[in-house]
Amino acid sequence: MFNNKPIGIFDSGVGGTSIWKEIHTLLPFENTIYLADSKNAPYGYKSVDEIISLSIKNTELLLEMGCKIIVVACNTATTNAISILRKQFNVPIIGIEPAIKPAALKTQSKNIGILATKGTLNSNLFITTSGEVTNDISIIEVIGEGLVPLIEKGNINNEETILLLKRYLQPMLKANIDYLVLGCSHYPYLIPLLKELLPEKVSIIDSGEAIARQTKNILELYNLASLSKENPKLEFYSNSDIKTIQLFLRDYSDKVSVKYRSF
Ligand code: DGL
Repeated sequence: MFNNKPIGIFDSGVGGTSIWKEIHTLLPFENTIYLADSKNAPYGYKSVDEIISLSIKNTELLLEMGCKIIVVACNTATTNAISILRKQFNVPIIGIEPAIKPAALKTQSKNIGILATKGTLNSNLFITTSGEVTNDISIIEVIGEGLVPLIEKGNINNEETILLLKRYLQPMLKANIDYLVLGCSHYPYLIPLLKELLPEKVSIIDSGEAIARQTKNILELYNLASLSKENPKLEFYSNSDIKTIQLFLRDYSDKVSVKYRSF
Protein backbone atom coordinates (compact mmCIF):
# COMPACT_ATOMS: atom_id res chain seq x y z
CA MET A 1 0.00 0.00 0.00
CA PHE A 2 1.20 3.50 -0.74
CA ASN A 3 -0.25 6.94 -1.04
CA ASN A 4 0.95 9.81 -3.21
CA LYS A 5 -1.30 12.45 -1.71
CA PRO A 6 0.53 15.43 -0.21
CA ILE A 7 1.58 16.03 3.38
CA GLY A 8 -0.20 19.18 4.56
CA ILE A 9 1.76 21.59 6.73
CA PHE A 10 0.66 24.90 8.22
CA ASP A 11 2.06 27.65 10.41
CA SER A 12 1.03 31.15 11.42
CA GLY A 13 3.54 32.28 8.80
CA VAL A 14 6.94 31.58 7.33
CA GLY A 15 8.52 29.97 10.43
CA GLY A 16 7.21 26.48 9.79
CA THR A 17 9.33 26.34 6.64
CA SER A 18 12.11 25.39 9.11
CA ILE A 19 10.04 22.27 9.87
CA TRP A 20 9.21 21.71 6.18
CA LYS A 21 12.97 21.61 5.43
CA GLU A 22 13.47 18.80 7.96
CA ILE A 23 10.49 16.89 6.57
CA HIS A 24 11.65 17.30 2.98
CA THR A 25 15.18 16.20 3.90
CA LEU A 26 13.91 13.01 5.53
CA LEU A 27 11.11 12.34 3.02
CA PRO A 28 12.46 13.77 -0.25
CA PHE A 29 9.88 12.11 -2.53
CA GLU A 30 6.76 13.11 -0.63
CA ASN A 31 4.52 15.79 -2.16
CA THR A 32 3.88 18.64 0.27
CA ILE A 33 1.53 21.60 0.56
CA TYR A 34 2.48 24.37 3.01
CA LEU A 35 0.17 27.14 4.16
CA ALA A 36 1.68 30.30 5.65
CA ASP A 37 -1.10 32.16 7.44
CA SER A 38 1.07 35.29 7.58
CA LYS A 39 -1.95 37.57 7.31
CA ASN A 40 -2.91 36.42 10.82
CA ALA A 41 0.59 36.26 12.35
CA PRO A 42 1.48 36.38 15.13
CA TYR A 43 -0.79 33.76 16.66
CA GLY A 44 1.06 34.11 19.97
CA TYR A 45 -1.07 37.04 21.17
CA LYS A 46 -4.44 35.72 20.06
CA SER A 47 -7.04 34.14 22.34
CA VAL A 48 -7.24 30.35 22.57
CA ASP A 49 -10.54 30.47 20.64
CA GLU A 50 -8.99 32.49 17.83
CA ILE A 51 -6.00 30.12 17.62
CA ILE A 52 -8.39 27.15 17.46
CA SER A 53 -10.54 28.66 14.71
CA LEU A 54 -7.49 29.67 12.61
CA SER A 55 -6.08 26.15 13.03
CA ILE A 56 -9.38 24.62 11.93
CA LYS A 57 -9.52 26.94 8.89
CA ASN A 58 -5.98 25.95 7.83
CA THR A 59 -6.62 22.24 8.36
CA GLU A 60 -9.89 22.36 6.39
CA LEU A 61 -8.15 23.99 3.43
CA LEU A 62 -5.31 21.44 3.45
CA LEU A 63 -7.83 18.60 3.52
CA GLU A 64 -9.81 20.19 0.67
CA MET A 65 -6.53 20.23 -1.23
CA GLY A 66 -6.30 16.46 -0.73
CA CYS A 67 -3.71 16.12 2.05
CA LYS A 68 -3.32 12.71 3.71
CA ILE A 69 -1.81 13.92 6.98
CA ILE A 70 -1.50 17.31 8.72
CA VAL A 71 1.63 18.66 10.36
CA VAL A 72 0.95 21.61 12.62
CA ALA A 73 4.32 23.35 12.21
CA CYS A 74 3.52 25.89 14.88
CA ASN A 75 4.04 25.46 18.62
CA THR A 76 1.34 28.01 19.44
CA ALA A 77 -1.29 26.24 17.32
CA THR A 78 -0.22 22.81 18.57
CA THR A 79 -0.25 23.65 22.26
CA ASN A 80 -3.62 25.39 22.02
CA ALA A 81 -5.53 23.51 19.34
CA ILE A 82 -4.19 20.03 18.61
CA SER A 83 -6.62 18.10 20.78
CA ILE A 84 -9.56 19.86 19.06
CA LEU A 85 -8.09 19.21 15.59
CA ARG A 86 -7.62 15.53 16.44
CA LYS A 87 -11.24 15.26 17.58
CA GLN A 88 -12.61 17.10 14.56
CA PHE A 89 -10.62 15.61 11.68
CA ASN A 90 -10.22 12.04 10.64
CA VAL A 91 -6.57 12.11 9.47
CA PRO A 92 -3.35 11.75 11.48
CA ILE A 93 -2.34 15.13 12.94
CA ILE A 94 1.21 15.76 14.08
CA GLY A 95 2.14 18.70 16.23
CA ILE A 96 5.23 20.46 17.43
CA GLU A 97 5.93 21.17 21.07
CA PRO A 98 8.92 22.76 22.79
CA ALA A 99 11.60 20.11 23.45
CA ILE A 100 11.66 20.68 27.21
CA LYS A 101 12.03 17.00 28.11
CA PRO A 102 15.13 16.28 25.96
CA ALA A 103 16.75 19.42 27.38
CA ALA A 104 15.85 18.40 30.93
CA LEU A 105 17.46 14.99 30.39
CA LYS A 106 20.71 16.50 29.15
CA THR A 107 21.27 19.57 31.30
CA GLN A 108 24.28 19.52 33.62
CA SER A 109 23.70 22.93 35.16
CA LYS A 110 20.07 21.99 35.95
CA ASN A 111 18.90 25.21 34.35
CA ILE A 112 17.27 25.31 30.97
CA GLY A 113 15.92 28.29 29.07
CA ILE A 114 12.88 28.36 26.83
CA LEU A 115 12.06 31.08 24.36
CA ALA A 116 8.51 30.82 23.01
CA THR A 117 5.36 32.81 22.34
CA LYS A 118 2.98 33.97 25.06
CA GLY A 119 0.33 31.61 23.63
CA THR A 120 2.62 28.59 23.95
CA LEU A 121 3.95 29.37 27.43
CA ASN A 122 0.42 30.03 28.76
CA SER A 123 -1.14 26.93 27.19
CA ASN A 124 -2.42 24.08 29.33
CA LEU A 125 -0.41 21.59 27.28
CA PHE A 126 2.87 23.43 27.90
CA ILE A 127 2.12 23.96 31.59
CA THR A 128 1.39 20.24 31.99
CA THR A 129 4.54 19.18 30.09
CA SER A 130 6.84 21.53 31.95
CA GLY A 131 5.24 20.42 35.23
CA GLU A 132 6.40 16.86 34.46
CA VAL A 133 10.06 17.91 34.45
CA THR A 134 11.70 16.93 37.73
CA ASN A 135 11.73 19.75 40.22
CA ASP A 136 15.51 19.85 40.64
CA ILE A 137 15.56 21.54 37.21
CA SER A 138 14.71 25.21 36.76
CA ILE A 139 13.02 26.29 33.56
CA ILE A 140 13.57 29.93 32.70
CA GLU A 141 10.66 30.91 30.46
CA VAL A 142 10.90 34.02 28.30
CA ILE A 143 8.30 35.29 25.83
CA GLY A 144 9.96 36.26 22.55
CA GLU A 145 7.75 39.32 22.13
CA GLY A 146 8.24 40.99 18.76
CA LEU A 147 10.43 38.29 17.25
CA VAL A 148 7.80 36.65 15.01
CA PRO A 149 6.82 39.95 13.29
CA LEU A 150 10.52 40.69 12.66
CA ILE A 151 11.12 37.23 11.18
CA GLU A 152 7.95 37.58 9.09
CA LYS A 153 9.67 40.57 7.50
CA GLY A 154 12.88 38.59 6.99
CA ASN A 155 14.76 40.57 9.67
CA ILE A 156 16.85 37.81 11.18
CA ASN A 157 19.99 39.82 11.83
CA ASN A 158 19.12 43.50 12.11
CA GLU A 159 19.73 45.80 15.06
CA GLU A 160 16.24 45.46 16.50
CA THR A 161 16.42 41.66 16.44
CA ILE A 162 19.85 41.69 18.09
CA LEU A 163 18.66 44.05 20.85
CA LEU A 164 15.55 41.97 21.57
CA LEU A 165 17.47 38.71 21.69
CA LYS A 166 20.11 40.20 24.01
CA ARG A 167 17.32 41.29 26.33
CA TYR A 168 15.60 37.88 26.27
CA LEU A 169 18.80 35.92 26.81
CA GLN A 170 19.93 37.99 29.78
CA PRO A 171 17.81 36.31 32.51
CA MET A 172 18.70 32.91 31.07
CA LEU A 173 22.42 33.57 31.14
CA LYS A 174 22.13 34.97 34.64
CA ALA A 175 20.51 31.68 35.65
CA ASN A 176 23.42 29.73 34.11
CA ILE A 177 21.46 27.78 31.51
CA ASP A 178 23.30 25.21 29.42
CA TYR A 179 20.35 24.40 27.10
CA LEU A 180 18.15 26.84 25.22
CA VAL A 181 14.91 25.35 23.89
CA LEU A 182 13.43 27.12 20.87
CA GLY A 183 9.69 26.85 21.40
CA CYS A 184 8.58 28.53 18.18
CA SER A 185 9.10 27.30 14.63
CA HIS A 186 10.14 30.79 13.51
CA TYR A 187 13.14 30.87 15.85
CA PRO A 188 15.43 28.35 14.08
CA TYR A 189 16.05 31.21 11.62
CA LEU A 190 17.69 33.04 14.54
CA ILE A 191 20.16 30.23 15.31
CA PRO A 192 23.16 31.88 13.56
CA LEU A 193 22.56 35.05 15.57
CA LEU A 194 21.87 33.13 18.80
CA LYS A 195 25.17 31.29 18.40
CA GLU A 196 26.96 34.64 18.23
CA LEU A 197 25.20 35.89 21.36
CA LEU A 198 25.41 32.75 23.51
CA PRO A 199 28.49 31.32 25.22
CA GLU A 200 29.73 28.10 23.62
CA LYS A 201 28.59 25.94 26.54
CA VAL A 202 24.92 26.68 25.76
CA SER A 203 23.36 24.19 23.33
CA ILE A 204 20.31 25.12 21.29
CA ILE A 205 17.51 22.59 20.83
CA ASP A 206 14.59 22.82 18.45
CA SER A 207 12.01 20.20 17.56
CA GLY A 208 12.25 20.17 13.73
CA GLU A 209 14.14 16.92 13.26
CA ALA A 210 12.00 15.07 15.80
CA ILE A 211 8.83 16.16 14.01
CA ALA A 212 10.19 14.97 10.68
CA ARG A 213 11.00 11.56 12.21
CA GLN A 214 7.55 11.37 13.74
CA THR A 215 5.94 12.26 10.41
CA LYS A 216 7.85 9.43 8.73
CA ASN A 217 6.87 6.96 11.46
CA ILE A 218 3.20 7.89 11.31
CA LEU A 219 3.12 7.67 7.50
CA GLU A 220 4.60 4.18 7.72
CA LEU A 221 2.33 3.12 10.57
CA TYR A 222 -0.82 4.11 8.65
CA ASN A 223 0.44 2.85 5.26
CA LEU A 224 0.38 6.41 3.95
CA ALA A 225 3.98 6.72 2.72
CA SER A 226 4.60 7.43 -0.95
CA LEU A 227 6.63 4.90 -2.92
CA SER A 228 7.30 7.38 -5.70
CA LYS A 229 10.89 8.12 -6.73
CA GLU A 230 9.91 11.04 -8.93
CA ASN A 231 10.42 14.72 -8.25
CA PRO A 232 7.72 15.69 -5.77
CA LYS A 233 5.30 18.60 -6.06
CA LEU A 234 6.28 21.11 -3.37
CA GLU A 235 3.63 23.81 -3.09
CA PHE A 236 3.70 26.85 -0.80
CA TYR A 237 0.84 29.30 -0.33
CA SER A 238 0.97 32.52 1.65
CA ASN A 239 -1.96 34.85 2.26
CA SER A 240 0.40 37.82 2.52
CA ASP A 241 3.44 39.16 0.66
CA ILE A 242 5.38 36.12 -0.63
CA LYS A 243 8.81 37.83 -0.51
CA THR A 244 9.84 36.50 2.91
CA ILE A 245 8.79 32.93 2.28
CA GLN A 246 10.70 33.06 -1.01
CA LEU A 247 13.72 34.36 0.88
CA PHE A 248 13.63 31.46 3.35
CA LEU A 249 13.16 28.98 0.50
CA ARG A 250 15.84 30.43 -1.76
CA ASP A 251 17.98 27.27 -1.57
CA TYR A 252 15.01 25.33 -2.99
CA SER A 253 13.86 27.89 -5.57
CA ASP A 254 14.34 25.54 -8.52
CA LYS A 255 12.02 22.90 -7.10
CA VAL A 256 9.28 24.66 -5.14
CA SER A 257 6.26 26.67 -6.25
CA VAL A 258 5.42 29.68 -4.05
CA LYS A 259 2.15 31.51 -4.64
CA TYR A 260 -0.12 34.07 -3.04
CA ARG A 261 -3.51 32.68 -2.15
CA SER A 262 -6.31 34.19 -0.11
CA PHE A 263 -7.44 31.98 2.79
N1 DGL B 1 5.67 29.64 14.38
C1 DGL B 1 4.75 29.93 15.44
C2 DGL B 1 5.05 29.04 16.65
O1 DGL B 1 5.76 28.07 16.48
C3 DGL B 1 4.74 31.39 15.71
C4 DGL B 1 3.61 31.81 16.56
C5 DGL B 1 3.09 33.16 16.32
O2 DGL B 1 2.63 33.42 15.21
O3 DGL B 1 3.09 33.95 17.28
O4 DGL B 1 4.59 29.26 17.74
